[in-house]
Amino acid sequence: MRQLRFVAVVGCMLALMAMPAKAQKWEHLADTPQMGWSTWNKFQGNISEDIVKGIADAMVESGLRDAGYTYINIDDCWHGQRDGNGFIQTDPVKFPNGMRSVAEYLHAKGLKLGIYSDAGTNTCGGMPGSLGHEYQDAIQYARWGVDYLKYDWCNTTNINPRGAYQLISDALRSAGRPIFLSMCEWGNSKPWKWAREVGHSWRTTPDIWCNFDSLRVFEAGYSQFGVMQCIAFNDSLRQYAGKGHWNDPDMLEVGNGMTENEDRAHFTMWCMMASPLILGNDLRAMSEATRNIIMNKEMIAIDQDTLCVQGLHYCDRDGLQFWFKPLAGGDWAFTILNPTRHDIDFALNWQDFNLTDKAVSGLSTDFDTKVYKVYNLWTHKPEGKTTTKNKPDRKLTVKSRDVISYRLSL
Ligand code: GLA
Repeated sequence: MRQLRFVAVVGCMLALMAMPAKAQKWEHLADTPQMGWSTWNKFQGNISEDIVKGIADAMVESGLRDAGYTYINIDDCWHGQRDGNGFIQTDPVKFPNGMRSVAEYLHAKGLKLGIYSDAGTNTCGGMPGSLGHEYQDAIQYARWGVDYLKYDWCNTTNINPRGAYQLISDALRSAGRPIFLSMCEWGNSKPWKWAREVGHSWRTTPDIWCNFDSLRVFEAGYSQFGVMQCIAFNDSLRQYAGKGHWNDPDMLEVGNGMTENEDRAHFTMWCMMASPLILGNDLRAMSEATRNIIMNKEMIAIDQDTLCVQGLHYCDRDGLQFWFKPLAGGDWAFTILNPTRHDIDFALNWQDFNLTDKAVSGLSTDFDTKVYKVYNLWTHKPEGKTTTKNKPDRKLTVKSRDVISYRLSL
């Protein structure tokens, strides 16, 4: 009898060991926030192989690839039909040479290919969704040489988001090719609370539109966020971001029609928040001003900093917002954001900003004992040092809808 029980217990243990372990998401694809470009903000569904290849050429020629922007992401509306076996095909008119040839073109240029699907029956643009075809789609993407998947949330009635995103994460893992998973369910089910091991980034907000500070409300009952609305919402979630898993307040609108000041503030704040930097403008025809903003390598370094901490909105004063981001090696990024419609003069006393980032990094600015070198991240010039004296150290004018942004280094 005892022997029998022993055999049964060992049998159960062996059976458990033989069960497939839950797949882990691909590691090290998001040690810092992802950088690249997407078709959506500028072109929506009006995309083609020529546009994608032209953007890839511009990415390389402009120096953006070497500044770190490596993903070229094809968003909604690249799809054709499923074939007789259920495998998704590319739209033969928009992409006459197929998706694998796009991947090969990008890879030959040192770039990576991103693609888009949806957890529901159909994508937001009405194309075939992945529901019921998750493993098949992951296999197809891997065959094509895809490196990144944005997975959307339209047409998902009665679908559980945790289950749906875990399923596609497992499918991508099983397909055998490292593919970044960018989750896009607009923050509805608070993915920051459960998706750390599932995806590499999650949208925290509804869609952005090219506007600095207003909501665009649609009759259908949903709204799009301006830059300030994205910041306000994303700000409350900083403790959930970190190496490998980032809050995503949506793609950039720099170069799509806001003023230069607004574009600079938008880009700076995405870097302060360690957000994904996915460009959304037409790189083939951008102004020098746009290029200077998105190519600011010192600002990109704030976003990509290896301490991996999302910036802290420390306080508001005189209409200004004061943001601090602790950086590797004891440095800090410090940004004053003026969201108002008028320029604001401000006398800066470092002692007003002795803070400890209790919630995330535990680090302190210690302006009463430490002296930092001050480097202006937009004029690209040193501006002296901080002082331990408790009195105004410098007079600043922060332009309307603009920023002053410093790197403080020891
Ligand atoms: C949703 C997403 C957008 C974009 C569109 C495509 O609205 O949030 O970012 O991908 O779908 O239809």
